[in-house]
Amino acid sequence: MALVNLKDVIWDAYRHKYAVGSFNVINMEFLEAIIGAAEQCYSPVILAIAEVHFPYVNIENITPAIRDVARRARVPVVIHLDHGTSFEAIIRALRAGFTSVMFDGSLLPFEENVNRTREIVKICHTVGVTVEAELGHVTGGEGGKGNTQQLSPEEYYTRVDEAVEFVRRTGVDCLAVAVGTVHGLYKGEPHLDFDRLARLNDALRIPLVLHGGTGLSAHDFRQAISLGVAKINFYTGMSVSACDAIRESLKRKPDTIDFPGLMQDCKRSIQRVVERNMDIFMSAGICQTPNTLCNACTGCALKPTPSGESGSEEDLIRRVTETTVEVLRQFGY
Ligand code: 13P
Repeated sequence: MALVNLKDVIWDAYRHKYAVGSFNVINMEFLEAIIGAAEQCYSPVILAIAEVHFPYVNIENITPAIRDVARRARVPVVIHLDHGTSFEAIIRALRAGFTSVMFDGSLLPFEENVNRTREIVKICHTVGVTVEAELGHVTGGEGGKGNTQQLSPEEYYTRVDEAVEFVRRTGVDCLAVAVGTVHGLYKGEPHLDFDRLARLNDALRIPLVLHGGTGLSAHDFRQAISLGVAKINFYTGMSVSACDAIRESLKRKPDTIDFPGLMQDCKRSIQRVVERNMDIFMSAGICQTPNTLCNACTGCALKPTPSGESGSEEDLIRRVTETTVEVLRQFGY
């Protein structure tokens, strides 16, 4: 139905207290599994490609396919750059046709993070692309076996006063916050700082982003959503399930030479993981009548626009106005 940007979906999620999952794509199996889950669940979805995965996935090759899949999907789809740390990655994503980017300056000094993020926002907003930034720092690495850094929370959790200044000076569309999650597998039980999250939400009043989704409980997710998290990033759990699926298949058929069969097993297991998360994030069913809540939805699941894109809120207003005028004309006004 629609290739949209982050603003088109996360404000609705923020207002109605659900979260849109951001799932990393590293190849066609991931792409088809994630889209398959989104359509099965009638859920908006964010397809993310992380800069750290650029060695595995050529974005110039895969983005045309993603854009095509997104346009034909019956749910709104965002194509998002995850953890863009270099100017080059941001520009490559824009050229390739991403509708959203994350600029991650979280390891930079505050002033430098502000200045570089503001520059990226200016460029991206000019061409209708949304921007996520990160303040504080979510440690660990996507797909990694656990956080090994020994930092105290004060050293890397997001500070409320800084976050307010950061959002005001940069104009970002949403903010990734550090409240105790880590990328990759957790060592021990995760303990999120919900009190800090509540204070961030009260002070900022914009959609918040939770990175490091793998390993959190349904209770943690729901609590975070109730405190302003409208986008949840999830990757390692899909990678683990794909590897498990291959191991399991090879155990059952050690002599197999059926590579496509192994890929199908991967795809099915990834899709199951994504569907489960969409249920937990409460985005499942959002795109199903009568729940046409999301800004991106004007019933265009049934009636795609000529360009195939739902576009921005301005685009939405234009289309609603045109339809209203057309109806009034029909009634002789
Ligand atoms: P996990 O790999 O821990 O699920 O985190 C993914 C993520 O935050 C991507 O930015």
